[in-house]
Amino acid sequence: MATSPQAKYRKDYQAPTHTISEIELFFELHDDQTLVTAISQVQQQSTSSTLILDGEGLILQSIQVNGVDWTSYTQSELSLELYHLPETFTLTIMTQIDPQANTALEGLYKSGGAFCTQCEAEGFRRITYYLDRPDVLAKYTTTITADKTLYPFLLSNGNKVAEGELENGKHWVKWQDPHPKPAYLFALVAGDFDVLRDHFVTNSGRKVDLEIFVDKGNLDRANHAMVSLKHSMQWDEQRFGLEYDLDIYMIVAVDFFNMGAMENKGLNIFNSKFVLANEKTATDTDYLGIESVIGHEYFHNWTGNRVTCRDWFQLSLKEGLTVFRDQEFSSDLGSRAVNRIHNVRIIRGPQFAEDAGPMSHPIRPDKVIEMNNFYTLTVYEKGSEVIRMLHTLLGEEDFQKGIKLYITRHDGTAATCEDFVLAMEEASGIDLQQFRLWYSQSGTPLLKVSSDYQATSATYSLTIEQTTEPTADQPNKQPLHIPFDIELYQPDGTAIPLQCNGMPLHHVLNVTQQKQTFVFENVPARPIPSLLREFSAPVKLEYNYTDQELGFLMVHSKNEFARWDAGQMLLAKYIRNNVDSVQQGKTIVLPDSVIDAFRGILLNDALDPAFITEMLTLPNHNEVSGWYKQVDVDAIAQVLHQFKVMLATELEDELSTIYHLLKQEEYSISHEAIGQRALRNICLSYLAYTEQGERLVNRQYHQSNNMTDTMSAMSAANSAQLSCREALMEDFSAKWQHDGLVMDKWFALQGSNPAEDALLVIKNTMKHPTFSLKNPNRIRSLIGSFLTMNPVRFHAQSGEGYQFAGEILRELNTSNPQVASRLIDPLLKFRLYDQHRQALMKKELDALKNLDNLARDLFEKLTKALDQ
Ligand code: TRP
Ligand code: ZN
Repeated sequence: MATSPQAKYRKDYQAPTHTISEIELFFELHDDQTLVTAISQVQQQSTSSTLILDGEGLILQSIQVNGVDWTSYTQSELSLELYHLPETFTLTIMTQIDPQANTALEGLYKSGGAFCTQCEAEGFRRITYYLDRPDVLAKYTTTITADKTLYPFLLSNGNKVAEGELENGKHWVKWQDPHPKPAYLFALVAGDFDVLRDHFVTNSGRKVDLEIFVDKGNLDRANHAMVSLKHSMQWDEQRFGLEYDLDIYMIVAVDFFNMGAMENKGLNIFNSKFVLANEKTATDTDYLGIESVIGHEYFHNWTGNRVTCRDWFQLSLKEGLTVFRDQEFSSDLGSRAVNRIHNVRIIRGPQFAEDAGPMSHPIRPDKVIEMNNFYTLTVYEKGSEVIRMLHTLLGEEDFQKGIKLYITRHDGTAATCEDFVLAMEEASGIDLQQFRLWYSQSGTPLLKVSSDYQATSATYSLTIEQTTEPTADQPNKQPLHIPFDIELYQPDGTAIPLQCNGMPLHHVLNVTQQKQTFVFENVPARPIPSLLREFSAPVKLEYNYTDQELGFLMVHSKNEFARWDAGQMLLAKYIRNNVDSVQQGKTIVLPDSVIDAFRGILLNDALDPAFITEMLTLPNHNEVSGWYKQVDVDAIAQVLHQFKVMLATELEDELSTIYHLLKQEEYSISHEAIGQRALRNICLSYLAYTEQGERLVNRQYHQSNNMTDTMSAMSAANSAQLSCREALMEDFSAKWQHDGLVMDKWFALQGSNPAEDALLVIKNTMKHPTFSLKNPNRIRSLIGSFLTMNPVRFHAQSGEGYQFAGEILRELNTSNPQVASRLIDPLLKFRLYDQHRQALMKKELDALKNLDNLARDLFEKLTKALDQ
């Protein structure tokens, strides 16, 4: 590497030396020689007449200031410095770029036959020299010229204001966005599409045109996205009182995209995975994913676009809040309990793991080398949990007041996390001084809870001790303000009203000290405590529950989430015990009482089928791994496998009855139908381990009229390694090999194949005509699933899994560093494994670190992981 990439620090923030009020962009689109002219109105804001613009991989053609060629400048790899400038001026810069060669998918690139852009976080600097920082807000006018036959649609942000034809088969379109915005929200698309059109009438009666652009032939897969968009617009008006602010809202689906989707003003660009769906091609999970991502990007219009971030350290200001909003949207439209369970699984699994590893950082990071590395579970998901805690502390009404204050105060500007907390504090009158630590402190607090009952005084006390272990980035931790939601139950299942000093007490306790005791009065008998209800804070909980107490909470908790959580705690206890047993060479056992508890859930027809499905879902290998400082990959896999077999064997009759009972004649995408399919298919996933497995799975695959049932059959055959697996896989690929998006499901099964020769099969699968290392979706499906969903094969003692990962990462380091940087995470956790494996993993990391063209993205993660 030429020079080591430099870190930026949050504490070094300085306001921009110049502002840009307007920018006019002209694009002449060509595959390999696109010409970009940027005309900016610049105003000096400091004493310096020097302007430093960001730019990367650009060929500079010309610079003019107020129409005169400017020669007083220097150019370096990542910037352009202009000297002796007047105080206000018109800056005209012409650059040339090569979209065709852009495999990193940042800036302007080609996805299939279409041009598109991705500018967040710092991609605009790959289009032209600019002040590419979120606190410089300008009004954009964009003119695009391109071949009319190849690119009949030319799109950008805002409203179309003019268009015309040129002689040479070209045409042009001019767009104007009335809302000032930072460069990361700029977007351009040019291509040939099918368009699904609809409209929405806002609360104040304005008509908004809605347009979804998909590849030709995919119109029959755009409906669900449109329905989800209209639901999003309506929900934001009803729950947050926020209305859309332009006359048109466009969504374009592209096949080559590094992330899920992007909220560019008025012109969202989506990974086609989060737009395209019909019952033949998409599973219920895909449908729900589309609803949530469409919602997420739409909600950014207010939390992200109208109010944006001052600097990238504040990313959680828009992402944590918008994730919170999309989670609430999904919960209001579907099952709140099931949504909460899914989100909590992500926090307890991958987010806790991230916070315990080399990349640990607070939701508002202090130090960044490559911003793309900070679009993390911590910033997004833990960020959302922090907003949720505020919601818990303030209540819906004051929370909404706070949001209103925040938005009116900061509309049209770039704000900070502190601005947000201050608005919440002022709107509610609640002191959030200690709560602010959630923004600056990384790591996962552990709450150790103990209880004591005094029959003579009828008092019950809970003592809560909080500690946060040091993390890779921060040695010292302070006590946090933790909302701790509890309920106390009498043995007959009734809840005891909480009382302290003769006063009623709210069910959310404010835990603020390192050690704290809460005493409750008028407690007639030793109660069973339900603790951390709704997962009221992103913390680990330790309380010595008996099996009986957990069994009681599984049945009697008034709240579904608490029931699920009790079931998970019961499972966790026996998973741990049995991992110990395996390590001591003993057999795996699961008491009848535990099996009976799950039988009770399965047979309880008062419960929502979607919820029963969650109760019956075992924690996965990654989540269990997170419980240990030293992970025994094979022991965990054995226990989880054996649990599946034992539950299947013991509950076979019940599973089978429900499986047959829930057969649906007609397909529908209602939440009720989704829940029933989920329960039926989890029954199948267990039954696959019984004698009937082969027959049921085969039959379901061949009779299926929808992708959910098809994939459930295939996935059951894959996990249980049924002998029909090969035939089903072959049939599926013959049917779908023309369709990359559908084949991703098949690739993911190849990646997570538990068979001994899985890696060999994966290497062959890379030669499949539908596979390409240029497409992030394909990479994530096949390679990503091998690294994260196939622990036994990836961590094979031979080291072949690590070697394979190393090879792929070396290639992606050059072609697409952003994707490489996400893929590398499992290797970075090498310290969790035994000496032998550690050495093998480290060898691959060292080799990567020695690459002479190592990308910033990998450089940052490798130095953190290796230098610890
Ligand atoms: N802002 C986008 C979102 O929240 C995230 C995103 C999309 C992104 N594409 C990206 C972030 C590329 C970094 C790089 O959904
Ligand atoms: Zn977002």
